[in-house]
Amino acid sequence: MKQTFNRTLVTAALPYANGGVHIGHLAGVYVPADIYVRYLRLRGREVLFICGSDEHGVPVTIRARKEGCTPQEVVDRYNHIIRESFEGFGISFDFFGRTTSPTHRQLASDFFRTLYDKGEFVEKESEQYYDEEAKTFLADRYITGECPHCHAEGAYGDQCEKCGTALSPTELINPRSTVSGSTPVLRKTRHWYLPLDRHQQWLEPWITQDHKDWRSNVMGQCKSWFDMGLQPRAVSRDLDWGIPVPVEGADGKVLYVWFDAPIGYISNTKELLPDSWEKWWKSEDTRLVHFIGKDNIVFHCIVFPAMLKAEGSYILPDNVPANEFLNLEDKKISTSRNWAVWLDEYLKDLPGKQDVLRYVLTANAPETKDNNFTWRDFQARNNNELVAVYGNFVNRALQLTKKYYDGVVPARGTLTDFDREIIGEFTDVKARVEELLEGFRFRDAQKEAMNLARIGNKYLADSEPWKVIKTDPERVKTILNLSLQLVANLAIAFEPFLPFSSEKLRRMLAVGEVKWDELGSIDLLAEGHQLGTPELLFEKIEDSVVEAQVQKLLDMEAANAEANYRANDIKADIQFEDFEKLDIRVGTVKACERVPKADKLLKFTIADGLDDRTIVSGIAKHYAPEDLVGRQVCFIANLPPRKLRGIESQGMILSAENFNGELSVITVDREVKPGSEVK
Ligand code: 2FM
Ligand code: ZN
Repeated sequence: MKQTFNRTLVTAALPYANGGVHIGHLAGVYVPADIYVRYLRLRGREVLFICGSDEHGVPVTIRARKEGCTPQEVVDRYNHIIRESFEGFGISFDFFGRTTSPTHRQLASDFFRTLYDKGEFVEKESEQYYDEEAKTFLADRYITGECPHCHAEGAYGDQCEKCGTALSPTELINPRSTVSGSTPVLRKTRHWYLPLDRHQQWLEPWITQDHKDWRSNVMGQCKSWFDMGLQPRAVSRDLDWGIPVPVEGADGKVLYVWFDAPIGYISNTKELLPDSWEKWWKSEDTRLVHFIGKDNIVFHCIVFPAMLKAEGSYILPDNVPANEFLNLEDKKISTSRNWAVWLDEYLKDLPGKQDVLRYVLTANAPETKDNNFTWRDFQARNNNELVAVYGNFVNRALQLTKKYYDGVVPARGTLTDFDREIIGEFTDVKARVEELLEGFRFRDAQKEAMNLARIGNKYLADSEPWKVIKTDPERVKTILNLSLQLVANLAIAFEPFLPFSSEKLRRMLAVGEVKWDELGSIDLLAEGHQLGTPELLFEKIEDSVVEAQVQKLLDMEAANAEANYRANDIKADIQFEDFEKLDIRVGTVKACERVPKADKLLKFTIADGLDDRTIVSGIAKHYAPEDLVGRQVCFIANLPPRKLRGIESQGMILSAENFNGELSVITVDREVKPGSEVK
């Protein structure tokens, strides 16, 4: 039997308070969650929207150490930045709390103790890497070394990013602690584990049979965990930052951050509603929905439900609409490389354009697969959709009303068949948007809302009030009345998606709060109603604005690479004989030309002292070919020949790479004979 729900509790993943939030966060979690909540509120449903910052975990301690401050100072700072960023984008949480609050510490601690007392944990001893210099056990991410599979340097204790293999820290060759740079040692330690293997029996049918409506990406990940067989997961860590394990003899141990963080949803509800929070967490008629990114699926679909079930008094999630990832300018967003559009920066650089980003991120939402954000697409969607379709319709309807009727809504006369057709198209949209929103298909829902504006534009273009005014002024009253009703409908339809613009539009229409149920009505504005002052709803974005943003990204990435350059980025030592195997020579460039259809490649003809040799090099973006003719360059002379775009390249020209990716060929200080050795 399908459950009936009387209220909806919506949670959005608690962002880590060891850094700011960027467009990937907004697209993946917070904008869709906000659209959903705003929609439910507009429909008059009972809903609560809970979030907060996730303030424990090793990354906070590492950042504090790097910056020479306390972990508390780190999380205080980022909690503030994150909170302001979300506020800036109109993410309408009912409460945004913190996992360092006393309410949370108490609730998480009690939660652990309840499970402990019920015998829901198993205790195990294991060996883990310990950094003797920094005096700390090391999380898997903080150990690097050589990958045992592809032998790349810099593989992490949990994964090699070069070949993608999942690793455990003890598999790394020459492990090193990234905290102090020292070689870690193995030490015995005891921890508590949540035996997920015991929970698989109910979890598997609960998801795969009772929740068939979950998104396919979510279902797919869950099934693959089940197929591998769930394993016990440690819920404590050896660390001095976190919530102490509330068990005797557990000194120096804290709750694992992924144990306490989801409990934050509960404690933040309790913080907001000390007297009625249980209604939201313990009644079967509450529908719990978690909005998250795909890296959080296992924790929200498997681990947290197992915790809740083990505790025994809480409801379980009804849906977990997880998104895939958003890439940025065709590259993975990376906070460590600083390849990101930070929300606080966006708010400063593009003030008043919050809705543009909300719109673009929803239009490109990574709902079913990873998606890409580019500044060019951002500009195009603004100029061609928000300005040219939505803004244009609104502006034409309001300006014509101002011109012909001093901004007063004219009376509607008899409707034509064409009018009725337009109204029909309009009213269907309501049902479609609702169905899409209820099914968490925000991208398509927004497209439907935009369709309303297209219908409006078509109506004005086809009915041509600016011409008809000369022959049949009465008819123009009807056209503009209907157009204005369509504009008012747009303010409702876009309210969940673009709240700032809807508010502005309501101001221009001089109407107050709206209700979702009024969507589709052609009686939203009464005859004789005085409209406010028309303004442009959206503004065109110039090339220079987006070009500056792309340049900013490149500059930030380069500055970050330079700042992070450390001696331990130097490759592992080699033997002198290895170096001697390289035959590096100087040659004179006799000719140089572009390789057709390869925008990165230049083809060199080089006098190498014996003959002319052809070398193809990927530096076309950094040099004009004619500038290199006559120059002396260094090249590796004893590499096996390689075909590049059908040309046999006999060697490799050496160049230095700047932190921003700029290449500079290595030349000699004074002229030498072609073929001279470099040693
Ligand atoms: O991945 C993250 O950013 C985590 N801080 C999300 C935690 S969600 C919840 F469980 F608290
Ligand atoms: Zn590897």
